[in-house]
Amino acid sequence: MTPEPGPLAVLPVADPLFVDAVRAAGGAVAPLSASTRGIVWLDNAGGDSLGEVLAAHPDVNWVQLPWAGVDSFAEVLRQHDRPGRIWTSAKGAYARPVAEHALTLLLGVLRLLPTRIRADSWGAKGGASLYGRRVLVVGAGGIARELLRLLRPFEVDVTIVRRTAAPVPGATTTVTVDRLDEVLPAADVVVLAAPLTEATSGLLDAARLAHMKPGAYVVNVARGGLLDTGALLAALDAGHLSGAGLDVTDPEPLPTGHPLWRHERVVMTPHTADTPEMTRPLLAERVRDNVRAYLSGGGFTGVVDPRQGY
Ligand SMILES: NC(=O)c1ccc[n+]([C@@H]2O[C@H](COP(=O)([O-])OP(=O)(O)OC[C@H]3O[C@@H](n4cnc5c(N)ncnc54)[C@H](OP(=O)(O)O)[C@@H]3O)[C@@H](O)[C@H]2O)c1
Repeated sequence: MTPEPGPLAVLPVADPLFVDAVRAAGGAVAPLSASTRGIVWLDNAGGDSLGEVLAAHPDVNWVQLPWAGVDSFAEVLRQHDRPGRIWTSAKGAYARPVAEHALTLLLGVLRLLPTRIRADSWGAKGGASLYGRRVLVVGAGGIARELLRLLRPFEVDVTIVRRTAAPVPGATTTVTVDRLDEVLPAADVVVLAAPLTEATSGLLDAARLAHMKPGAYVVNVARGGLLDTGALLAALDAGHLSGAGLDVTDPEPLPTGHPLWRHERVVMTPHTADTPEMTRPLLAERVRDNVRAYLSGGGFTGVVDPRQGY
């Protein structure tokens, strides 16, 4: 479907980086008005005000969202999708910094960095290597594929779990998510790199964590809602899992003083797999690409399916 191009508004504030990105790709930027046809939405805080803008401007036919995951826009997508309106996100755009961070968390937890960093004396030998391990990645998008590339030197055996069936190049095995329980017990490491949707909410719950190989590791760079926080803590404390690397939590922010913060087998970062310094130029690139697509009648990158939620 090809939206009829028209003036684009950069909202809620016309950030010069993104105004320039629209113009560099040949788009016309103008303040929001009845003639606005496309919106580049930059707000951090979910979708309420975007919903108001769309309700008042039903002729908007393209909306570029700022994040790779659009879970915080779920309500806007539900209420304001309509035939002919295209939604795009930054999915895939932040793959490099986030995959880099996933590998950082994984190596940190394997090498017992939480304990080593807090130590004030020599300590006992310990730690594990990534070489030759079995890694299961949930997700086959930008982050998963970049992580697969970064993992190559470690000669790991990668199983990809995704929603659709196409095999992912470089993975030993690709399965659809209905087969997760079949492949889960063989994995030494499970990395979550899928969107938070109705289908993935609570994906790694207590039963699935119990189903994981004793001594395995979990890394979550996706969204906290994919992993049951209490069940993870219990699995770590029971010694069933060896460690976790978490950039995202449920709830988020994780309350000050929560036992996961100072857990000796957890490396935790406060949703900093990507930072504004990293994402801004990547989002500007996505905006340029999609403005070109908008003006030339198609070929958008990062198209969101509102029914699937990603
Ligand atoms: N920590 C951070 O700062 C940070 C930064 C960026 C993104 N993220 C999160 O990471 C997620 C992934 O980012 P991305 O850029 O890689 O997104 P992406 O390119 O949209 O990839 C999403 C992948 O998830 C898979 N998926 C969807 N539903 C699934 C299900 N029910 N079971 C298993 N796999 C499923 C998709 O499978 P198919 O390919 O089969 O459709 C797709 O391969 C985002 O949605 C976001 O929530 C976090």
